[in-house]
Amino acid sequence: MSMPERPSMSVDEAIRRRRSVRGFLPCEVPDAILREVFKLAQCAPSNCNVQPWMPHVVSGEKLRRLREALVAAGMRDEPIKPDWPADGKFTGIYRERQVGAAQALYGAMGVARSDTVGRKFAYIRNHAFFDEPHAVFIFMPEPFDTREATDIGMYAQTLMLALTARGIASCAQGALGLFPDIVREQLGISPSYRLLFGISFGYEDHGVKANSARVDRAAIDDVVRFHR
Ligand SMILES: Cc1cc2nc3c(=O)[nH]c(=O)nc-3n(C[C@H](O)[C@H](O)[C@H](O)COP(=O)(O)O)c2cc1C
Repeated sequence: MSMPERPSMSVDEAIRRRRSVRGFLPCEVPDAILREVFKLAQCAPSNCNVQPWMPHVVSGEKLRRLREALVAAGMRDEPIKPDWPADGKFTGIYRERQVGAAQALYGAMGVARSDTVGRKFAYIRNHAFFDEPHAVFIFMPEPFDTREATDIGMYAQTLMLALTARGIASCAQGALGLFPDIVREQLGISPSYRLLFGISFGYEDHGVKANSARVDRAAIDDVVRFHR
């Protein structure tokens, strides 16, 4: 399978082009490019330059085994045990946006709201990493919390933009943080490292229906307040 050509892209273009992709081709990203993007992501800013992120990049046989374990946990409805409470706090406009994103995704996949089995399978695809060849799980050490989590957000977006600029698609996934004990056990990570979320990445499969989903953003005048 031929690798997409490495594009040259402005920052603006990478920001605009990045979107969550949920279906990937089976070809791996070459090691040299993997190292290049993770080196670039190290440029992300952090409070006092503490760089609290601890990314674990998983591919190949390890990823296959992890996929099996996470999908099995999801299929048997094992109670989730995230290191941070799962979302349940979206109300008002935030709930509307959440529902809008879900409708865009399930609509693109052709899964009706009443189709509970279809929805479950669509959700479980999260645990299958959307068939992508790589995933990065981003941990941070105890006792870091909210403040350091903002640094992790900056790291994650820096990483995803570096990937985008090389024609590599990604999807940040809180769903990959729902069974952190399984991830820690399989990767040999100490319980003192807590998992925020994962990012699946690889080359987009344009034939996957979910990849036609698009979500919009609030208008700048609805969110930004300029003071002077
Ligand atoms: C921290 C974080 C966690 C996310 N978790 C998931 C997830 O578990 N599953 C999923 O399909 N998308 C997940 N997303 C993707 C969002 O749904 C997506 O970023 C949002 O709808 C905006 O769409 P876009 O990324 O295509 O611009 C997550 C995004 C972020 C930043």
